[in-house]
Formats: sequence, structure tokens, C-alpha cells
Amino acid sequence: MTYFSKGDIMNVAILISGRGSNLKAILEAERNKKIAKAQVKLIISNNSKAEGLKYAKEFGKKTAWLESNNFKSKEAYDKELAQIIKSNDIELVVLAGFMRILSPSFIKQFKNKIINIHPSLLPAFPGLNAQKQALDCGVKITGCTVHFVNEMVDKGPIIIQKTVDVKDDDTEFSLSNRILEKEHEILPLAIKLISENRVNLIKNKVRIA
Ligand code: GRF
Repeated sequence: MTYFSKGDIMNVAILISGRGSNLKAILEAERNKKIAKAQVKLIISNNSKAEGLKYAKEFGKKTAWLESNNFKSKEAYDKELAQIIKSNDIELVVLAGFMRILSPSFIKQFKNKIINIHPSLLPAFPGLNAQKQALDCGVKITGCTVHFVNEMVDKGPIIIQKTVDVKDDDTEFSLSNRILEKEHEILPLAIKLISENRVNLIKNKVRIA
């Protein structure tokens, strides 16, 4: 399966919940023309106080926020989210620290159009606190993963991974920071590759052309 953006430039939405350092890395890559075939059209947060929204302002990007407590149910929330994404002609949805599990019906509507960044080498350490899980387990190598989002949490086809050595004196903080540096490389890179139609899904495995 090959990606085709409708026009020359693929419209991207970034979904965040907090700090937004991955969002910043993407916006900087866009500004520096490192992802020439994609444009960040919209930034969505489930938290109007998300620190990362400052980058939307700094880079002059359109924002939307959807607070969960304004919605009666998860379905109602996801319906509104889908509506915003469709009405902005978004071709790729990037979860960059978006701390909400999307409903299966939402994911079905945007099949293979949603990617996520996770701070471990999946399938190891899915879910929350992946860096702590790695430290507790005593692994010597961990890293980060960009993957397509499917109905199973942190289990979709892997697009790119980068490794990080775990040091004996690492704390959750030090390890998370080193992983984050790699996240900031691979998430913009994944967007670039998808926008250039270089990401193919063959029998549920990603092949990069
Ligand atoms: C990152 O570690 C990402 O892998 C995880 O949530 C964190 C978000 O960080 N999904 P930031 O908001 O991009 O700084």
C-alpha cells in the first residue's frame, strides 16, 4: 500500500496533550525545509493549557482544542475530532504525546493515516512509563518507535526505530531525555518519508522505498 497525498503537499495535523517537544521538532523541520512535501495545517490538543500550544503560536499555526470534559462520551469526543480532521482536509494525523486512546471507530475512519511516537523499542514496553519499564527491566538498549496506529495500543506496523544505550547510572529523567533526542529525529523523518510516498505497507509490514 502506498501513500498518495492529494496534492503536492500533504496536510498534517499534530495532536498533543502536554509539553510538545516533538511538535516543536516537527515545526522546526518544516521551517528548515526538511519536510518539503508536508505542511502542518492544524494542531489539536485535548488540553487547552498544554504547554506545547505555545509552539503553535510561535510558528503561526492554526489550533483547536477539545477538552474531554466538554463531551458526554468518548464516542462524542472522537466524532468531533474526526469532523475537525476531515473539514481541514488532513491526510496524516500525528500523535505527538497525545494522551488519549482513540476509539476503534475513529481509527477505522483514518486507517493507516495515523502515526504515533512511543519512547521504547516496541513491542517492548508498550503503554505508560516506557522508560521506567525499561530501567526496571534492566535492558541495556532501549529507544523509540514511530508506528502506524491500529486498534491495538502500541501494536501497529513499525515505521522507524532508533536505539539508545541504557547507562548503569541512568535515571528515568536522564534516559527519557536521551530517548527524546532520538524521537525528535525520527518523527519528522517519518512524516517526510510518508509525504514523499516512500512508506509502503506490505502484509502489515512497513517497507521504506
Ligand atoms: C514523548 O516521550 C512521546 O514518546 C510520548 O509522550 C512524550 C511526549 O513528549 N508519546 P512531548 O510532549 O512531545 O515533549
